[in-house]
Amino acid sequence: MYVIGISSGLKAGHHDGAAVLMQDGVIIAASEEERFTLGKHARGDLPKGAIKYCLREAGISIQDVSFICSPLKTYPNYAQRVAEWVAFNFGHSPKVELYDHHMCHAASTYYSSGFDEATVVCLDNSGDNSSGVILHAKGTQQTVLKRFARENSLGLYYGMMTQYLGYQMTNDEYKVMGLASYGEPTYLEEFSKILRPDGLDFHFNQSFDKRIVDKALYTTDFSTRQERIFTTGLEDVLGPRRLPNAPLEERHRNIAASLQKQLEVVEIEIVESAIAQTGCPDVCIAGGVGLNCKANMEILLNPAVRRLYVPPVPHDAGVALGAAMLKLVEEGFPIEKMDHAYWGPSYTADEIKFRLNQIGADYQDLNDPTEACVKDLGKGYKVGWFQGRMEYGPRALGNRSIIADPSDEGAKERINSSIKYREEFRPFCPSILYEHQDDYFDAGFDAPFMVVTLPAKSTARKAAPAVVHVDDTARIQSVRADTNAPFHALISAFHKAGGPPMLLNTSLNINEQPTVNAPLEALHTFFCSGLDVLYLENFRLAKPGK
Ligand SMILES: [Fe+2]
Repeated sequence: MYVIGISSGLKAGHHDGAAVLMQDGVIIAASEEERFTLGKHARGDLPKGAIKYCLREAGISIQDVSFICSPLKTYPNYAQRVAEWVAFNFGHSPKVELYDHHMCHAASTYYSSGFDEATVVCLDNSGDNSSGVILHAKGTQQTVLKRFARENSLGLYYGMMTQYLGYQMTNDEYKVMGLASYGEPTYLEEFSKILRPDGLDFHFNQSFDKRIVDKALYTTDFSTRQERIFTTGLEDVLGPRRLPNAPLEERHRNIAASLQKQLEVVEIEIVESAIAQTGCPDVCIAGGVGLNCKANMEILLNPAVRRLYVPPVPHDAGVALGAAMLKLVEEGFPIEKMDHAYWGPSYTADEIKFRLNQIGADYQDLNDPTEACVKDLGKGYKVGWFQGRMEYGPRALGNRSIIADPSDEGAKERINSSIKYREEFRPFCPSILYEHQDDYFDAGFDAPFMVVTLPAKSTARKAAPAVVHVDDTARIQSVRADTNAPFHALISAFHKAGGPPMLLNTSLNINEQPTVNAPLEALHTFFCSGLDVLYLENFRLAKPGK
């Protein structure tokens, strides 16, 4: 049975649309819509390009699909509208089934984890009139322990503070998380007035939510993400907000550190209380707050937690996966554990060659790019590495990556300033050989998806200063030969040539653009950035003199 799960919706506030095709309990293809529209987060778009890709990957037509599954169960006439949209774009619509947004988040993490039982923690901005859910999952049974009201939202809290600090809500939260490491949590007393823990519950002070206080202004809908959502009362507590692009002061860094710390305090209390109720120390995380890899580390290190699983798509691109899984579980199919995130498009040598010749590029056609790439890395070059199927989720995991020597201390500054064109404080992550992970990082966590930060050992700081954050942590990817053989071989060859058993790895894109999907976008990124070399499968392109 073929089932397609979709996420996002018809309103401007919806984001991270995606489509996932599953056959029985197995994922066949999955991708975010932004990879096809080339607009980051594909706001307000249903995933037309992603569905088209999924069908092409499987070599099937829409007639072969039994169900289209989606969240947004509470939206009026939504099933009918999706069915009409699918029929309009594809000529036919399978039956549409709707599920609760947070049950989709929960399914996406629990069934991907391979755990037989779990405490499932979904903390989000909002969806289907709530902001998250806590469950006890066992076999195919899911018991809801707690559901949070839409207005009482940790995602909203973090988004509001992102706005207060001069960044874009529902876009730049990860910048605030990066900034937090540069400050001290000196504002905890103030933050206790904004957000406070309460066992399995928490209380976000709604007197700071302008949309609730100023109801008369929002008679037809909530605000757009570009409007201010916090009241001036927040500035009475914390002082004046930071204007976008204003200099970053110590006060801003300390506020970032404090708001992050307060989030962690609340999350830990929720996790501990949930485990006390379920009796199950294995935790699965989802919801947009699940992208907070620093909070995930605090959960991992908590003594009440035995095992932690965070999927590569804890955010809204993952509800497409969860919706498909819920349907297939209903139909009696066992769901296969997700070992890797390489479910997106790949491109043949002929397709790439066609593009290269079309733009008149100078290139070499190599038998195996590994050796040449190691030489380039050894010269300090910053390399675009485009291989195989694209990653599902926001992290580049070695198939659409920019890579560099992590022992090169200047790499971070150079990549931020002349390749990604972004803030100087933004950290980079290591992709490390699975076999060597424990030599450099603590906690022994199997980390295929770069969603959890781990404490770095002194060996990591010494061998790979470019990928250890200012707070002595790193958001690592452990690379295994059985899930990404070419990337594992590349890092192994780099290590054999005298480098540490890891590479600096960041997504192949320019700031504010989605990660590159197709060869044409890779070429655009290469020629419009300070990248030295680009490998498109076995084809090597280099800037003059390199
Ligand atoms: Fe969500």
